[in-house]
Amino acid sequence: MKIGYLQFHPELGNPAKNIEKIKYLLKDKEFDLMVLPELANTGYLFNTKEELIKLSEKAGEGNFYNSLFEIAKTKNAHLISGFAESDAENIYNSAMLVSPEGIKGIYRKVHLFDEEKKLFTPGNYGLKTFSISTKNETVKIGIMICFDWAFPEAARTLALQGSQIICHPSNLVMPYCQKAMFARAVENRIFIITANRYGTDVSGEKSISFTGGSVMLDYSGNYLASAPVDKDEVFIAGINPGDALNKFINPNNNLFEDRKEEFYYN
Ligand code: ACM
Repeated sequence: MKIGYLQFHPELGNPAKNIEKIKYLLKDKEFDLMVLPELANTGYLFNTKEELIKLSEKAGEGNFYNSLFEIAKTKNAHLISGFAESDAENIYNSAMLVSPEGIKGIYRKVHLFDEEKKLFTPGNYGLKTFSISTKNETVKIGIMICFDWAFPEAARTLALQGSQIICHPSNLVMPYCQKAMFARAVENRIFIITANRYGTDVSGEKSISFTGGSVMLDYSGNYLASAPVDKDEVFIAGINPGDALNKFINPNNNLFEDRKEEFYYN
């Protein structure tokens, strides 16, 4: 199975340009599963809900979704991307899973970071694992968004649900996540794709910079890729997702069977 990330610098408030960039970067690429950054069509730094609502889309509707659906059909592949989702009076920091048949799932970010709390409603769907069928196999994937990384329970929940690959659209601003994902991969024996953005969003007096350095890890914590901090990159690797089903680290330790739930969360 060919899995990948797309790292780029979304232009703030310019979905049309960002869609063109995504199409251009994926034009000649072949993959089964591609992960794009958080809020990939809109950029990140919004001061008010009013600014953001104009650029948000309902799940499975709108230009951004339609563009990803076209790519999914053309490539016979799945894509996961962050976007601002409107639903009634709420805006969620969401990720859509798009298959060649259409919208396959939505994840709404549970752990909102910093001033996101002023703009977005916290996710109410919980953490969910989705089954996707590629040309050769059926694979379980989990989605979490950016700051969810700081809560090991998020990746653990997805892994316990059976996720073999964690897809992690991100707009990272702190320097820790790319290293921390080593732990998320080895403690759960899962593949991880952290698709980050780079560049700086400026809005009035405010600005925020993102760390690039997207990573892909295998179930043993090997870094299959680590992107530059300030450049576009599409990275694609062939993996065997079935490797993530084996939770033994030696003949006597199975990371899931050895859990001592009675001693946790007290
Ligand atoms: C973040 O959650 N976008 C830092």
